[in-house]
Amino acid sequence: MRFPENFVQEVIDRTDIEELVGRYVTLKRTGANLIGRCPFHSEKTPSFTVTPAKRMFYCFGCQAGGSALTFVQKIENMDFAEAVEHLATRAGLPLPRETGLPEEKGVPRKRVLEANLEAARFFRACLFDSRIGAVGMDYFKRQRRLSEATIKHFGLGYAPNDFGALRKHMHQKGYTDDELIAAYLCARSQKGNVYDLFRNRVMFPIIDTSGNVVAFGGRVMDDSKPKYLNSSDTPAFKKSRHLFALNFAKNCCSERVILCEGYMDVIALHAAGFENAVATLGTAITADHARILSKYTQRVIISYDADEAGQNAANKAMRMLGEVGMDVRVLKLNGAKDPDEYIQKFGPDRFRRVLEESRTGFEHKADRILSRYDLSEGSDKIRASNELCAMISEYASPVEREVYLAYITSKLELPVDVLRNSVEQYRRRNRKEQAAKETREAQATVKNFGDRVNPEAAQHPRAAAAEEAVIGLLLIYEEYRNAVQSGIVELREEHFVTDFYRRVFSSVMRRHATEEGLSVALMGSEFTPDEMGRIEKAEVSRRQLSQYGPEVFRSAVEALKNEKKRLTVSEEGLDAHLQFLREKKRKKDTT
Ligand code: UTP
Ligand code: MN
Repeated sequence: MRFPENFVQEVIDRTDIEELVGRYVTLKRTGANLIGRCPFHSEKTPSFTVTPAKRMFYCFGCQAGGSALTFVQKIENMDFAEAVEHLATRAGLPLPRETGLPEEKGVPRKRVLEANLEAARFFRACLFDSRIGAVGMDYFKRQRRLSEATIKHFGLGYAPNDFGALRKHMHQKGYTDDELIAAYLCARSQKGNVYDLFRNRVMFPIIDTSGNVVAFGGRVMDDSKPKYLNSSDTPAFKKSRHLFALNFAKNCCSERVILCEGYMDVIALHAAGFENAVATLGTAITADHARILSKYTQRVIISYDADEAGQNAANKAMRMLGEVGMDVRVLKLNGAKDPDEYIQKFGPDRFRRVLEESRTGFEHKADRILSRYDLSEGSDKIRASNELCAMISEYASPVEREVYLAYITSKLELPVDVLRNSVEQYRRRNRKEQAAKETREAQATVKNFGDRVNPEAAQHPRAAAAEEAVIGLLLIYEEYRNAVQSGIVELREEHFVTDFYRRVFSSVMRRHATEEGLSVALMGSEFTPDEMGRIEKAEVSRRQLSQYGPEVFRSAVEALKNEKKRLTVSEEGLDAHLQFLREKKRKKDTT
């Protein structure tokens, strides 16, 4: 639905942006701003700023920016109206009556969440109904040795062996087929029949940190395939951004998180008292996961399956988590294929001891390298030390490098100075490569950004720069908006070259002319979060320049007009030239 602008403004005014953002990002105060690590891209040094006085945020790294609403849209993957509703609810503001405008096409996130909750209730009821769910209950209790308390704690369920049981139940509760399909609870066959996707499976609801049921995983109870069926992405769920059991773990994981591969590993660990265990959902860990984890904890202990695949995945996870600056450790479990089996076999105390002895990520990787070589062979020793020194050179902290040097010195039995020199050589090489890589990446981002938000900027870079300057000044200074409105400075839509800034200009001037005046935050109803970031960028980069005075504005406007003229003239010139060629050809043809 569409909300009246004064309501949206009130939602923004009533939202404490510092507190809101602070739930996702650790913020430090620096003067009028707060600064932290950006939740929208991977970074080690903070470039994400919140300016409470302006009620805005902006990231100097990835140029995300806007109001509290833009922030919610981006971080919760919501559209504008959903973000308004979300913040209104948080602020305790009652929503205005439906405006009667038609609902946007597509099933809204909220409806999907409601459907999921109802489905979770249904699956649970089936599990506890012995006529329907005895097989599921038996599987959980006998085969997986779960207590009833654990089953209830995780809201586990059972999907009946029936193509239409859930659908029928959901219809009775008022859900349509389109809604069930959007929630990935049902699908439509080629013939057009709608049927339940989860059948004869034990069900694991996936609950986000706000307590919403966002998705499901369903396991077969025998060896058939696929072992687990997971919801694919829906308006309420992105598997690259959710972790199983983080809703429980978030309250007790500030010291460390145990990261597992499977649902059942997590459940076994929680049941044994390790409530800081989480798992990714049938995918390898992503940069998003790493970022999310880094908001809750300092240290991750990876406890993946003991097989080759699990150990390779552990290496990848180590890299991802290291990139966001976390302390990563790896568990080595002997005598069991995964944490679930380990706990069943050896009990929680033994697991706790292994946990305390967890090797640092470095030791884990170093041991894997060392195991590949025969250190009594000279050539093997050289290769092993090269590989290990290259690895140490990647660590930014000199203290860490010294600790790891000591470790490999003892293993390789080589003088520490020799190894330290080798590490330094690799560091110099890395630095060169890093610098080249950053330049390449920065160029790529700028290009991509240009493409998405303002495709014409790549073609007309000078015009776009002039427009950015003009827009930035208009956003900041009311007097310039007045000057344009009254015609003292002549600037109209037709003076703009790129469509994007022309749209921004007309929105700014239209809003300026209203009784309430300009509110940049409200522009979020017309512009996407990416576009809002670009608008914030125009403002922020202007603020950084300490030039004021009307002549700055006039000269920016002049620059824009000159650029427009130059482009128009060259287009006219081109037209004239084509005309000339056509004339010439005609003359030639007639003669
Ligand atoms: P595992 O097969 O190790 O799962 O796969 P598990 O939880 O230990 O299963 P149990 O002990 O046999 O019941 C690890 C994870 O990979 C995903 C699931 O998230 C699972 O928990 N997975 C696995 C799938 O998504 N689909 C599959 O077919 C298999
Ligand atoms: Mn398992």
